[in-house]
Amino acid sequence: MDNVKRITVRDLQKMKQTGQKIVTVTSYDAITARLVDEAGLHLILVGDSAGNTVLGYSNTIPVTMEESLMLTSAVRRGARRAMVIGDMPFGSYQVSPEEAVRNASRYLKECGADGVKLEGGKAVYPIIRRLVEASIPVMGHVGLLPQSVLKDGGYRAHGKSEEEAQAVVEDALAVQEAGAFAVVLECIPAALAERITKTLSIPTIGIGAGPHCDGQIQVVTDVLGLGSYVPRHASQFAHLADAASAGLREYFAKVSDGSFPGPENSI
Ligand code: KIV
Repeated sequence: MDNVKRITVRDLQKMKQTGQKIVTVTSYDAITARLVDEAGLHLILVGDSAGNTVLGYSNTIPVTMEESLMLTSAVRRGARRAMVIGDMPFGSYQVSPEEAVRNASRYLKECGADGVKLEGGKAVYPIIRRLVEASIPVMGHVGLLPQSVLKDGGYRAHGKSEEEAQAVVEDALAVQEAGAFAVVLECIPAALAERITKTLSIPTIGIGAGPHCDGQIQVVTDVLGLGSYVPRHASQFAHLADAASAGLREYFAKVSDGSFPGPENSI
């Protein structure tokens, strides 16, 4: 029996109150989740960014419930202490609050997740409310919404004009009012993120939203140097693609020239 104490929504709330930064990243598999967990990060989001990062789609729209559930189960098996949050894919929560509850429950029941995330502010207020009434912890997500890329005609920072900034504040307040335990602020000006962080009683988790949020989230392939490019809001803390390429080339060379496997690798 595993008696590691898992991080809970109450721990995140306390961290906001005491000013301890909440450190989070996405992950999509058990090996990476174990490394993230062992490094002490507090929360792992099984982001629908899996669409771009590990599933080979050009955006997050095609990700299905079944794909997301499979990845979330794998991450849960790798993580012991970190909270694991399943990211509800496009189309899995917008149809009706009932369908959202049916789909969100699967993350808790089938994957062992600690909650779900979904995108949107005022527009998804009734959905978040219904999920929370059904005892499903929800993380909100406002600002840039990758699932709206087709409607918005691309990815761009949000909240730069005063009118847009006010809309983002109202979205964040709606998410809190609906009962979410935290909210992701994506690609908004640092000053706006600071204003929202000071206004809300729930933790804000920023990505491309400056240093004043209660926590930060990054896409794991960006911070580990596995992606094909580094977005401006990210930084590479390791260079795994280079190391992996070098290792694979060496393996290729050694099998080709007969020096691997050697006697020490043979039975
Ligand atoms: O899917 C994802 O990775 C996300 C984060 C960028 C917050 O939603």
